Amino acid sequence: MTTVLITGGLTGIGRATAAAFAGQGADVVVAGRHDAELPAGAVFMHADVRQEDDIRQLVDDTVTRFGSLDVAVNNAGTEGAPGAVTEQSADSYAQIFDTNVLGTLLSMKHEMRVMFEQGHGSIVNVSSVLGHQGAAGTSIYVASKHAVDGLTRSAALEAAGHGVRVNAIAPGPIETPMLQRYESTRPETDLRASVPLGRAGTPEEIAKAVLFLGSDAASFMTGEVMFVDGGASAG
Ligand SMILES: NC(=O)c1ccc[n+]([C@@H]2O[C@H](COP(=O)([O-])OP(=O)(O)OC[C@H]3O[C@@H](n4cnc5c(N)ncnc54)[C@H](OP(=O)(O)O)[C@@H]3O)[C@@H](O)[C@H]2O)c1
Repeated sequence: MTTVLITGGLTGIGRATAAAFAGQGADVVVAGRHDAELPAGAVFMHADVRQEDDIRQLVDDTVTRFGSLDVAVNNAGTEGAPGAVTEQSADSYAQIFDTNVLGTLLSMKHEMRVMFEQGHGSIVNVSSVLGHQGAAGTSIYVASKHAVDGLTRSAALEAAGHGVRVNAIAPGPIETPMLQRYESTRPETDLRASVPLGRAGTPEEIAKAVLFLGSDAASFMTGEVMFVDGGASAG
């Protein structure tokens, strides 16, 4: 049986991904900060990805319970508050980087510890199309996703000799609570207008791509950042 760990898996993309893996018969651990209603077939474990003790415990408890860690999806993320570069502070920087970058780093550190010992595993980090371009008014989020891509490629090089693959998915605008929050704070921004397919994606469309990257169907892919963005990055 495949064991899958998904951080930030109670809502949005993480939740849809948990449901997709569970639908394929995997043992799924959803990690989050609240004990909320779970996707069907998943087990909840508490973890704030900014806290190394939480992540160490999460990974160890997953292996204790299910015997292995085969796929890890580092999805937990925050968009932070909107604002220009001139309005930012050390606190607003930390609010985003501690979750999006430190959280991804700590998650990979402990997932790789276990996967290297197993001699196999697949990690999928959730980046963004904004990891590859600038966006006025959201510079820290943009920078954090650039960092996730750099971490992904570097970790992939370190992990390859251990039989472990590390990739990232780069979604365009996706219909989730994060997109709703983003749009409510930036009513002047029409993200859908930047998507050639003319709409935001669904969490289920991202989940299918994560399933692919996590599986043996992607066995020769590592260090890849895969866009799933309705063509937003094509122009
Ligand atoms: N929606 C989009 O348009 C879009 C596009 C590109 C990339 N993404 C990325 O996709 C990922 C998932 O976002 P989403 O769109 O599905 O939005 P979402 O529903 O807000 O999901 C984010 C999840 O991360 C959790 N989280 C935040 N900080 C955490 C922390 N410190 N520790 C543990 N969990 C934490 C949140 O739970 P809490 O309730 O605890 O905060 C929430 O469940 C994010 O990395 C995001 O940057 C989204």
